[in-house]
Amino acid sequence: MKKPKVTIITGTPGTGKSTLAKKLAKERKAIVVDVNALIKKEKLFDGYDRSLKTSLVDIEKLNKKLLKLIKELQKEKKDIIIDSHLSHYLPPRVVDECIVTKCSKLLTLKRRLEKRKYSKKKVRENMDAEIFDVCALEAYVNKHKKIKIVDSCKRKKK
Ligand SMILES: Nc1ncnc2c1ncn2[C@@H]1O[C@H](COP(=O)(O)OP(=O)(O)O)[C@@H](O)[C@H]1O
Ligand SMILES: [Mg+2]
Repeated sequence: MKKPKVTIITGTPGTGKSTLAKKLAKERKAIVVDVNALIKKEKLFDGYDRSLKTSLVDIEKLNKKLLKLIKELQKEKKDIIIDSHLSHYLPPRVVDECIVTKCSKLLTLKRRLEKRKYSKKKVRENMDAEIFDVCALEAYVNKHKKIKIVDSCKRKKK
């Protein structure tokens, strides 16, 4: 039997990672790892940024947990989709495919983030991250294989 495939979906918050993860999981009968839920459940925090009103994540601890989880899930012989803007920090040796979600219409992204009641500063920081393509750039720097960019703001063809 084929080795189960590990896909990571990274990208600025609000660019459509979770939406795409659910869609792909259905198509591929894969398991989605909801990293935000995992961080909360396992308390993988490294302090709190008061100006951003947001918790900071301990990437080392998170990677350790994810590596363990990947091993366990692979025993179940199912494909795994990891949904997180921090997933590209995983070592490329455990990742088969890296999808980076984008939102090419910045006003759309701004509206999506504001809907989440993020602070002004947090909206600005995420917009900047999207403008500077931080997740894609870091995915390339971390030498992930098969990097694919998916734009959630492209109009669907009729
Ligand atoms: N392909 C898409 N087309 C239209 N709207 C989308 C698409 N992907 C995501 N969205 C919308 O954008 C918002 C953020 O999507 P979400 O998947 O939660 O992003 P993320 O998980 O990256 O934070 C949601 O309101 C969702 O409905
Ligand atoms: Mg999400």
